[in-house]
Amino acid sequence: MRLSDVIIRPITMSDLSGALRLSSEQNWNQTEKEWSFMIQNPLNTCLLADYHGKIIGTTVAINYSNDMAWISMVLVDKVYRGQGISKLLLKQVLESTHSWKSVKLDATAEGQNVYKQFNFIDELSITRLTREPMIYTDVGDDHLMTPVRTEDLAEIIGYDQLVFGVNRSRLITWLHQEFSKNAWVLKRNDGIAGIVMGREGRNYNHIGPVMASGFNDAAMLIKKLINQFNHKPIVADVLNDKEEVIKWLNDIGFSKQRTFVRMHQNDNPWPGNPKQQYLICGPEFG
Ligand SMILES: CC(C)(COP(=O)(O)OP(=O)(O)OC[C@H]1O[C@@H](n2cnc3c(N)ncnc32)[C@H](O)[C@@H]1OP(=O)(O)O)[C@@H](O)C(=O)NCCC(=O)NCCS
Repeated sequence: MRLSDVIIRPITMSDLSGALRLSSEQNWNQTEKEWSFMIQNPLNTCLLADYHGKIIGTTVAINYSNDMAWISMVLVDKVYRGQGISKLLLKQVLESTHSWKSVKLDATAEGQNVYKQFNFIDELSITRLTREPMIYTDVGDDHLMTPVRTEDLAEIIGYDQLVFGVNRSRLITWLHQEFSKNAWVLKRNDGIAGIVMGREGRNYNHIGPVMASGFNDAAMLIKKLINQFNHKPIVADVLNDKEEVIKWLNDIGFSKQRTFVRMHQNDNPWPGNPKQQYLICGPEFG
């Protein structure tokens, strides 16, 4: 392959099937919904590598309210790996984010090697756990949870911002619109004590984000989605410092599939409050 023949250009909706091919061949969990959500936001930078008309690589920088660029969907076709394609894509996408104060991502082990070359440093680690569908009978104070209503969204977006670090209003609104039955809020004393949201993916139903102030609330929110997702394998990406959650999920039959490392370039001005972050939304969204 001649690297000089590779063209880097924006991804459009007509490239959807080529982009989905790459994530599906890697056995990633995205469906057309995630790709469309990313591509259709004109504030995101979505790039592909085109080699003689074939899509052989992708990357996306998600714009979180002009504060944080979240690097996502870094994928190269197996046949073309090890020849500098990801570096070409990242160089260009990081040029588009070079004036941003916060540039972050969740890296696979393979990706970590590439990002180190672009001065990304480790921030925290995450374990991916999966399980066959199950029903959980001991649901706890289940009645404290209510389905998220449209009128709750502003408060939930504010809560997500406190925990994640920046405003992700588009993401939270989209999760609610597309997967409303998986969005639950836990309220106490008229305030939010926790939230859970979830997506039906290609291979798994994905539980997350889960944000809460303690283990019991987090577990209650997770159980809610375990029971809703009782027809397809489930996946949960847990922050490694949540040892109690990891142990509990292992005890009920989840097993570790892989790990991710959250990394940031330059400074990390909006670290959020990871103490309250139990499950992330997924490495593609943070
Ligand atoms: C990770 C991935 C995108 C790399 O793409 P690539 O085009 O093969 O990478 P490049 O050829 O541009 O290599 C970039 C650098 O990464 C490192 N690297 C790439 N693949 C590596 C591997 N398998 N093991 C160790 N280092 C590796 C090398 O240091 C290389 O730099 P060098 O050639 O100057 O030493 C590709 O392997 C892939 O699609 N993997 C599956 C999806 C994935 O995990 N994506 C990352 C998401 S966070």
